[in-house]
Amino acid sequence: MAMAMARPGGAGDGDAARPLVFALNGARVELAEVDPSLTLLTYLRTRTALRGTKRGCGEGGCGACVVFVSRYNPCTKDIEEITVNSCLTLLCSLDGCAVTTTEGLGNQQAGHHAIHKRLSGFHASQCGFCTPGMTMALYGTLRKSTVKAKHSCHDSLEANGSAGDGINDLQLTPAEAERSIAGNICRCTGYRPLLDACKSFCADVDVEDLGMHQFPDKNELPPYDSTRDPEFPQFLVRECETRGICSQHNSGNISASANGIDGKSVEVQPRFRFSDCASAKDREKVWIDPESLVDVFKALRTYQGTEVKLVVGNTAAGYYKDVKPNVYIDISKVDELLTLREEADGIEVGASVTISNFIEFLESLEVRGLKAPTSGVIGTNNETSIPIVLAAHLKLIASNHVRNWGSVGGNMMIAKLYNFESDIATILLGVDARVKVVSPCGEGTVAKNMSLEDFLERGALDNSELLQSIWIPLDKAFSSQDGPRVRFKTFRASPRPLGFALAYINAAFFARVSEPVHGVTKLDDVRLAFGAFGTEHAVRARRVEDHLNEKTLTWEVILEAVRLLRTEVVPAHGTRHAEYRVSVAVSFLFQFLAPLLKDEDYVSKFNGLLSSGKQVITMTDEYYPVGQPSAKTASVLQASGEAIYVDDIPAPADCLHAAFVCSQKALAKIQNVDVQQALQTPGVVAYVSAADIPRNGQNVGVSMGVFPKQGLFATDLVECVGHLIGLMVADTYDHAKEAAERVEVDYDIKAAGPPVLSAKEAVKRNLFFPVHFLAAGAIKPIGDIMEGFSRGEMILENVEVITESQKHFYMETQTALAIPDEDNCMVIYASTQTPDFVQRTVAEALGIPCHNIRVITRRVGGGFGGKVFRGATVAVACALAAYKLQRPVRTSLDRSTDMAFIGGRSPTTSTFSVAFTKEGRITAVKAEILIEAGYEQDFSSVLPRDFAYSFKKYNYGPVEINFKICKTNLVPKTAMRGPGHTQGSFLAEAVIEHVAARLELDPEIVRERNFHDIGSLCIYFGEGAVGSPESYSLPSLWERLKDSANWVDREREVQEFNEKSTWMKRGLAMIPIVYGNLSQSKSATVSIFADGSIVLESPGVEMGQGLHTKVCQAASFALSKLFPKGRGIDLSRFRIVQSDTISVANGGVTSNSTTSEGCCAAVQAACETLVERLTPLYQQLQAAALHGDVSWENLISKAIYMVDLKVHHRYAPKQFHYLSYAAAASEVEVNLLTGETQILATDLVFDCGKSLNPAVDIGQIEGAFVQGIGFYVTEGVETEDGRELADGTWGYKVPTVDTIPKRFHVELFNSPALQERVLSSKASGEAPLLLAGSVYSAIRKAILSARKERAKWVTSHSKLTDQEPILNDFILDPPASMDRIKKLCGFDNVESYLESMNHNVQNTKSHAASV
Ligand SMILES: Cc1cc2nc3c(=O)[nH]c(=O)nc-3n(C[C@H](O)[C@H](O)[C@H](O)COP(=O)(O)OP(=O)(O)OC[C@H]3O[C@@H](n4cnc5c(N)ncnc54)[C@H](O)[C@@H]3O)c2cc1C
Ligand code: FES
Ligand code: FES
Repeated sequence: MAMAMARPGGAGDGDAARPLVFALNGARVELAEVDPSLTLLTYLRTRTALRGTKRGCGEGGCGACVVFVSRYNPCTKDIEEITVNSCLTLLCSLDGCAVTTTEGLGNQQAGHHAIHKRLSGFHASQCGFCTPGMTMALYGTLRKSTVKAKHSCHDSLEANGSAGDGINDLQLTPAEAERSIAGNICRCTGYRPLLDACKSFCADVDVEDLGMHQFPDKNELPPYDSTRDPEFPQFLVRECETRGICSQHNSGNISASANGIDGKSVEVQPRFRFSDCASAKDREKVWIDPESLVDVFKALRTYQGTEVKLVVGNTAAGYYKDVKPNVYIDISKVDELLTLREEADGIEVGASVTISNFIEFLESLEVRGLKAPTSGVIGTNNETSIPIVLAAHLKLIASNHVRNWGSVGGNMMIAKLYNFESDIATILLGVDARVKVVSPCGEGTVAKNMSLEDFLERGALDNSELLQSIWIPLDKAFSSQDGPRVRFKTFRASPRPLGFALAYINAAFFARVSEPVHGVTKLDDVRLAFGAFGTEHAVRARRVEDHLNEKTLTWEVILEAVRLLRTEVVPAHGTRHAEYRVSVAVSFLFQFLAPLLKDEDYVSKFNGLLSSGKQVITMTDEYYPVGQPSAKTASVLQASGEAIYVDDIPAPADCLHAAFVCSQKALAKIQNVDVQQALQTPGVVAYVSAADIPRNGQNVGVSMGVFPKQGLFATDLVECVGHLIGLMVADTYDHAKEAAERVEVDYDIKAAGPPVLSAKEAVKRNLFFPVHFLAAGAIKPIGDIMEGFSRGEMILENVEVITESQKHFYMETQTALAIPDEDNCMVIYASTQTPDFVQRTVAEALGIPCHNIRVITRRVGGGFGGKVFRGATVAVACALAAYKLQRPVRTSLDRSTDMAFIGGRSPTTSTFSVAFTKEGRITAVKAEILIEAGYEQDFSSVLPRDFAYSFKKYNYGPVEINFKICKTNLVPKTAMRGPGHTQGSFLAEAVIEHVAARLELDPEIVRERNFHDIGSLCIYFGEGAVGSPESYSLPSLWERLKDSANWVDREREVQEFNEKSTWMKRGLAMIPIVYGNLSQSKSATVSIFADGSIVLESPGVEMGQGLHTKVCQAASFALSKLFPKGRGIDLSRFRIVQSDTISVANGGVTSNSTTSEGCCAAVQAACETLVERLTPLYQQLQAAALHGDVSWENLISKAIYMVDLKVHHRYAPKQFHYLSYAAAASEVEVNLLTGETQILATDLVFDCGKSLNPAVDIGQIEGAFVQGIGFYVTEGVETEDGRELADGTWGYKVPTVDTIPKRFHVELFNSPALQERVLSSKASGEAPLLLAGSVYSAIRKAILSARKERAKWVTSHSKLTDQEPILNDFILDPPASMDRIKKLCGFDNVESYLESMNHNVQNTKSHAASV
């Protein structure tokens, strides 16, 4: 059997003159000239009006750019449908394809698609930047399911004559639905509502079992009617038919004679030529799409000596971004490379076959029963076949979008060319695959077969060679029914269970296992392949193989094997987490061998997906429609791509693009900045630097009231890697970026002295910023510290704990568009949380008045504090360039520049001493906190205030906290969601955990013993912040949580589980928070129009937190007071418009989670004034009305010429600080072999007063909690020589759909009405992030259990090897990453176990002998 998968439109036809033809949302696009390096994403965003497809990373790692691609195969008449990452897909490779973007599914005019509506109705879109990508990812899954349904429907039609109607006739399982978005990142929602929206399409899911939504019942769900999906355009069918070439099923026996070439062929002509500079020959790029291998070689010969890239999916460009060839040879349609062939003794897969098609083929082998031995091969836990084990592993590679487009050969080649950490190379090495390399021979080609090992081992392929196919032998594996069994398993350890992250290490093991005779098992033909551990390429552990072959398996043999393995799996010098990787290699081998001796829980059973989510809310009508879970305004538009973000605003005529020139050194004097070469780059217009600041202007990048100013450009000194030196401005972003990279900066490192690269180094050199006066009150010592320490029965001294930075990773990077206007004015569209401060800073920088500067922000694609301070610099720099050039200038940072420039959460090093009684009552705490600020103090100098607030959640008695704000040569750290609070709460829990550990008490007991009473709360926070005694809800919500989380039973269950389980340990922990919110003064303008529609203006920026929605609800409530029986004015009458610094002046900053309530209060007051103004007229009309009530329209139509229908109001809170309370319980399972964590469940109770909008608040709580999981578990920031190592999606792992709690219950605590609060509400935006500390604490408990288990194995012949003398008093600094967890469980825990097993056996033997 053989099959071949055609790429779009079949194989190329070699017609060099033919234009590129494809369909875009059904419309024909024909391009005669195309830049071969142009990606679909850039094309969509810069050459079309479609802006729904977003750029989140540009490297295949976020899914914001996902689109749907269909391609027609004229031979089979089949249409293949897939999702792809448009940021990696080259436009030229879409010839003959139909591309559908989210706009193509539906829009406001034509009606939105069911996916758009359901994402909105399930509250699954917050900032909305990820939502179009989510839409398309889900659409891809629905289409796949539809096709599956059609096939089975066709079968049933044949069987019983009935067919589905296209509506909801999907055969989608919940697992498939959830996995559809596994290749997409959302930084806001925490995924739960997204998963619910996805699962709502499953036939057998009850919507009542799904999370909050807007649909009364299943029948009211917007129906998905697949018959209304965009069809593959007929013109493309005709186009492909006319070309008439389709990929042939070939025998795979390709050789010179089989392919014979006529010898007279002319050179292969490029299909497209493109140059952005006619005079520079080296800038010409060509695209060639040969139809056969022979033509590929002709092309290679023609372009010998030029930078050539063979292109299949181009997905490797997501990793190897610097590879910029001149010649692109598209080999995705070459028939000979598309083989998928099955023979009696194995299978052959062509190099250009996509990973998805390969998976499908492997799975089909079993489905078709052709290769389906259900015995003979041992796979994971159940017996299965080698193809299925391979397919399962392949599904963990990248995302489905990458696998749909990226090829097997492309993967193998990057493994070979660039030492890429390939999974495919490793697993194929494990099955002893062979490869076929083909090269030209005379007028034909010749193929050479070699082992995969030789292929990987030998140097680069010759210029004229290419990988043709891979042969996977399967014969022996399957002919073993009567002989020895075959055991084949693959492994990978990666931060995300469902893949979408490179492995720290991967492996594939094969062995023949004899049937046990008298309990004796022998191994033969052992193959052990390891990759990605810091090796050039996947390798076989030959010495271990030799050791195991033909040996009777015993614990001693395994012990010897893992010891030998440590000498073979040796990461290259400088490999990060080297010790961890080796220890996991040992674990893998152990997992492979140990089950043959003893059946145990060597692998986790959990798949990492959400199984249930529950939200408990209590709604009241008191402030109707405030308190209703209304859908977020514009969420449908966000899904359909119609919502406009700054980078979506069409470029004005003559618009230029700017790219940053940043320092590459941590500290250096700038000798010279040479821009001559850079200015030669095509399209470059200017270099902008400090020298361009106008005479009256200042070199200022951030100027924010009471906060310290920050510089814009470095002049003679750079103080961190990423310090902004200048801007390159060009016609396109790519040109600007290229030019920026060509700027030569001459640094003098010696003259500047050694950089300060840590807080401790800053302490040594006495380099500090002052603590800000705003923090003074919060950090005042409380009580008599000496007296407190003297009361303690035990003291822990100088315990040091560290928190790392965390990156904002908002999906929309920093973006601004500055447009000069007449009379020295400027309009700036900025993605900022603080248009007001951008206005002021630009005015200062340019030396012009504020009233010349209009900053407009309609929405922000996620901010999390990163668009408050540092972000302003981006808009200011952009404005300066626009001012200098008097042309519009746009800048949108790429992900790595954004991550390098914006800093992130402030790292802290805390050293504490604590005194306590034997019962666990703390009597005093003293702590020294080093805050690593970077070279600017930014928000760090205010951080102590918030740190202290959240640290003081327990009553420690006397407390003293001292802060040092350390000035370093690292990127300035800034505010990030829960700034300071997160670190303070962590320290509070660290104190509790260490006291509990010392006393060998459960930490929850110590927590409870140190809860505040109302008296201590008032001493710590002040009566004003505490408010009425009944508002202190923590004790009751803590009890409520214990109850709802079934705490007592689950504690027992966890204990029982841990007693039975050796390699999986669980932990259950519960933590409280007391969060100090800072209210804000805000203003609002309300205007009523003649038809009764209403516009609200507020300075609050909508960035996903639902501010606009809440403000509309508050306005509706306030205006409804006009009517005695008023039930609110319909929300559809309200429009809240963009923040605009000219229409609402001095708007301040959107931060602290309290902007929504401030804006609600302002709008409420403005509406109340309108009610006052309208009431006399209303009463007059009411009195005159003959029938019923006077309607709103009627009233307004009369009022417009009598009443001023526009009101502006500024609200100032009476009390600035107030407290919020919450608690969460989390249960985790830790894998002691790999250090992986699964969050099994989280129960969370949050008091946000009377929620303004429960759907929005639940969204904030879940989203913040999951961001907290990032801080506590997955997101680590490491630096090397002052450079942050994680600069994108490859190295920085924010939580994904598979890292959230599997069961996630959130309850809004039904707290009493709080008269002192805005509409009785409290904020919900940041505080819940801290509750992810419960996950961290649960991990600690699981580790403790692991350490106790390991201690049992440690006998006289072995010893505990880590430094911690006390088992339970260990330090685990967040993030609790896999390597840190594994280290604490023991990098050598497998050896310890094996030693003890072996020891037991020896003891038994000697006992038997002596008997
Ligand atoms: C976000 C992301 C995550 C990923 N995660 C993983 C992972 O976890 N594990 C893993 O193993 N991989 C991973 N990958 C790598 C992925 O598998 C490869 O990018 C993909 O397989 C490359 O195929 P392609 O067709 O796109 O290759 P291209 O990008 O088109 O080509 C890659 C290279 O191979 C060369 N080449 C291609 N075919 C041939 C041939 N027949 N002969 C000679 N040279 C050839 C090209 O010239 C080029 O140099 C990931 C990729 C992305 C983008
Ligand atoms: S922008 Fe394409 S995956 Fe992120
Ligand atoms: S809503 Fe998903 S990133 Fe904001």
